[in-house]
Amino acid sequence: MSLRLGWSNGSTEVIVGEKEVELALSSSKGRQFVVTSSAVSGAPWAARLLDVMSPACIEELPDGEKAKEVDVLLSLLKRLVGCGASRGDSLVALGGGSTLDVAGLASALYMRGMHLVNVPTTLLSASDAAVGGKNGINFAGAKNVLGTIRQPSSVMIYLPALLALPDLELRHGVPEIVKHGMTLDTSILRLLSGPPSLRDPETLKKLVVRSLSAKAEVVAQDEQDVFGKRIVLNYGHTVGHALEAGSGFRLHHGPSVSVGMIAEARLEVELGLADQEVLDELMSVLGRLKLPVSVSEACSQEGMGACAGFEVGVAKRALIMDKKREGAQISMPVVDRPGSWGVKQVAIADLQGALEGAWGGD
Ligand SMILES: NC(=O)c1ccc[n+]([C@@H]2O[C@H](COP(=O)([O-])OP(=O)(O)OC[C@H]3O[C@@H](n4cnc5c(N)ncnc54)[C@H](O)[C@@H]3O)[C@@H](O)[C@H]2O)c1
Repeated sequence: MSLRLGWSNGSTEVIVGEKEVELALSSSKGRQFVVTSSAVSGAPWAARLLDVMSPACIEELPDGEKAKEVDVLLSLLKRLVGCGASRGDSLVALGGGSTLDVAGLASALYMRGMHLVNVPTTLLSASDAAVGGKNGINFAGAKNVLGTIRQPSSVMIYLPALLALPDLELRHGVPEIVKHGMTLDTSILRLLSGPPSLRDPETLKKLVVRSLSAKAEVVAQDEQDVFGKRIVLNYGHTVGHALEAGSGFRLHHGPSVSVGMIAEARLEVELGLADQEVLDELMSVLGRLKLPVSVSEACSQEGMGACAGFEVGVAKRALIMDKKREGAQISMPVVDRPGSWGVKQVAIADLQGALEGAWGGD
């Protein structure tokens, strides 16, 4: 299946499937330069895609977050020069959100912009990072501080890649889908009732398409992130980012957002900013999907290494450093009832209390 997402000055074609994606990649007009990671390129489904593309050059980045570094970006740009890439060629990003973030920035910089084709291979990148245009690398100890906003020419969601994901990696993508359901499109919550089998290609396809479409609708209203609309995509992320920081970024983004949504919703109900229905719905959907609702649950699901040496002080300081902070408050998205949201000021001290409360469980 395919759909077209419209932007102020262009559009992105999204293709979801198996043969459809192979066909689209094999019939690309210009030359293709593939950016992938060592952990992805060896998979049989990746070999199949590389085979249909016959890329002019392939660059393998370090795995995961280690790819989002300046020296990795520079060596990728040098490789594009060395391979003779031109502006009309396509940079194909084949991998998870980390690969897409670096490749997106390289494609924006190289010759002031070459075509970008995102081929997300994790559920998180397929249902979230692949559209929206934000790219970036980490710099001077801070996450995503160097980057641009530039939409991909196309997004190819190759179902065999998603179906090959290990269970834990597949589950890492679900909290962002729940976030899109709670904030923007409650029909996603209905799809998640059941609960669905994430190993069923049709279900996976529906979840990814609804999730991407919901995100794209918000992005289209505020592509350059200047009107404050995109803030809704941060639901659960204020506490979630603080938890990631407290764990030294060993706790994955997905479970951090899962616990973040619960901690924020519980506080917002206490403050009278949200209906109890919000917390009940979140507890029920996350519980059915066996996603963590407390830090201790997240740590045990992820394995002890994820939380070894967790520093609550670092997590609390991360709230003070939050980009949305205004004085002693943080301006953040609040869901008052499922599918309805607004921006509210919440005291940092209250959020720090919510973070401490998130550790112990319900
Ligand atoms: N630009 C955006 O809008 C946006 C949105 C959300 C997240 N992000 C970024 O995305 C990154 C996280 O993305 P992620 O969760 O995809 O992580 P990731 O890219 O680090 O990938 C996670 C792991 O999965 C492996 N992997 C990838 N595809 C696989 C497959 N099909 N089978 C088996 N293993 C596979 C990778 O090798 C890696 O070890 C973060 O850096 C985050 O900042 C960006």
